[in-house]
Amino acid sequence: MSWQRATTWDALAAGPVVFHQSPLQIVLYRVEDQVFAIDNRCPHEGYPLAEGTLDEQCQLTCNWHNWKFRLSDGVCVLGGDHVRAYDVKIEAGDVWIDLSSPDPQVQQAGILNGFEMAFRKRDTGRICRELTRLELHHLDPEEALCRAIAWSHDRLEFGTSHAYAATADWLTLADRYTDDWERRLICLAEAVDHMAHDALRRPRYPYATVSAAFSTDAFQEAVENEDSVAAEGLMHRALAEGLHFDTLEHDFTRAALQHYNDFGHSLIYVQKTGELIARLGPQCEAWLLPALTRHLCYATREDLIPEFKGITAALAALPARAGEQNTPPSLSGLQKGGVRGALSWVTTHLKTHRVPVLFDALLQANARNQVGFDTSYQDSFDRPVNDSVGWLSFTHALTFSQAVAIQCGKFPDQWSRGLLQMACFVGRNQRFLDSQIERAEWQVTDVTAYLQQVREKLLDHGMRDPIFSAHLLKTTMAVERLINDCQPDTAVWLLAALRRFLESPFKQKHIRRLARQAIDLVGRDFPGRTGMA
Ligand code: FES
Repeated sequence: MSWQRATTWDALAAGPVVFHQSPLQIVLYRVEDQVFAIDNRCPHEGYPLAEGTLDEQCQLTCNWHNWKFRLSDGVCVLGGDHVRAYDVKIEAGDVWIDLSSPDPQVQQAGILNGFEMAFRKRDTGRICRELTRLELHHLDPEEALCRAIAWSHDRLEFGTSHAYAATADWLTLADRYTDDWERRLICLAEAVDHMAHDALRRPRYPYATVSAAFSTDAFQEAVENEDSVAAEGLMHRALAEGLHFDTLEHDFTRAALQHYNDFGHSLIYVQKTGELIARLGPQCEAWLLPALTRHLCYATREDLIPEFKGITAALAALPARAGEQNTPPSLSGLQKGGVRGALSWVTTHLKTHRVPVLFDALLQANARNQVGFDTSYQDSFDRPVNDSVGWLSFTHALTFSQAVAIQCGKFPDQWSRGLLQMACFVGRNQRFLDSQIERAEWQVTDVTAYLQQVREKLLDHGMRDPIFSAHLLKTTMAVERLINDCQPDTAVWLLAALRRFLESPFKQKHIRRLARQAIDLVGRDFPGRTGMA
């Protein structure tokens, strides 16, 4: 107990009294024969509750935005955050309040309770306030991120979403700011906001829990058959038997690379899930691994699209082992000839060249494509549906490449699949380039200063929909990592690609394109209508 004399019974007869003990401001109200004490600063925007209106139910309204608090315990009954209520005693006409600190566990539970309400409503302001309360009370704000994963994981109908991948990247960025709470808070709040966005107003989609014992073959077969019930059941069993991500990672990597899956997302999600578990701890596996399993079962198989069908023949044509040449291969054939030309380039050069030089060449080719993107494709609304490309068609080539570098670096038996899929990106995007765009226009001269400037931009990007800021972030983080290990010329291309992406208009909505394509498609079944394509 830490009792402080705050005022007198008589002084309270004229109205509320504000007691100051820096940094605290506590308002005391006398109601009939009782005195109540709560924090004076409204937790919404900080206006004084001493200026509020008290009703007959002992409920105090903050007159600025109508939040209502119970005087007896500080609970907010309309609005958001609660205020702290203090024990009060009256002795010989003096009013005393107890300023002793609450039990940390009780305090943490209270804050996390408020955080959960903020999460469920996607109330970003309150998310920031509750995270800040955890930090300033020396409680771990990252515990809140684990809770957000737990609350969101079974509301993802199709499993892992960009929110978890972005959370891994926001945490990586947060680690640059260990002594800078404002910037670290932004990173944590962005991660939570994205998870809240993806879970908002979604029902629960429980994961299957019944299965035979986990085995690699059974898991691969279930994913191949797109049997999410069987795959989720196997993952449940694997976790129950004490298997961890590091044991299962090869199975996930293999499943993600078995097909040209989901435009690279599958492998990106495997890699980011691993990062998240390494960062937040194995308690997150129980939520993240079922979600990843479900995602793999629902992943779109681009290799079945005619444009990418050559990948099956390319896999059959792969040499038993890669060659030994370490000199950079010629890019001719890679930068022309579409998907088939790029696939053929990989199978040919794998016979002669080492994997790292081929990876670098494919990475550079994808970076070159991004530098040369003809943004009229992004802006147009009157082209055929298969020309509906935008920045993300290019940035995924780089983020996927980074996932290939990490996952195939760990599991070299997957390299050829990773390279072939990088080639699919190279070949596909060749159709959408503007040959007039010069690298020199976008070259980054001072890399350190540029990346510093980019990070500041990421911390105040101003985009409402988290899917877009997530792509700014993940492309930046991928380039930051890739430039550390690639050839100097490839690094120059990567930075130019990043700069062109970040400094170009990023069209986020295509209503006229969608409207026109809808009329075109639906209209084909009606007489007198002609199609666009
Ligand atoms: S400041 Fe109190 S309700 Fe907004």
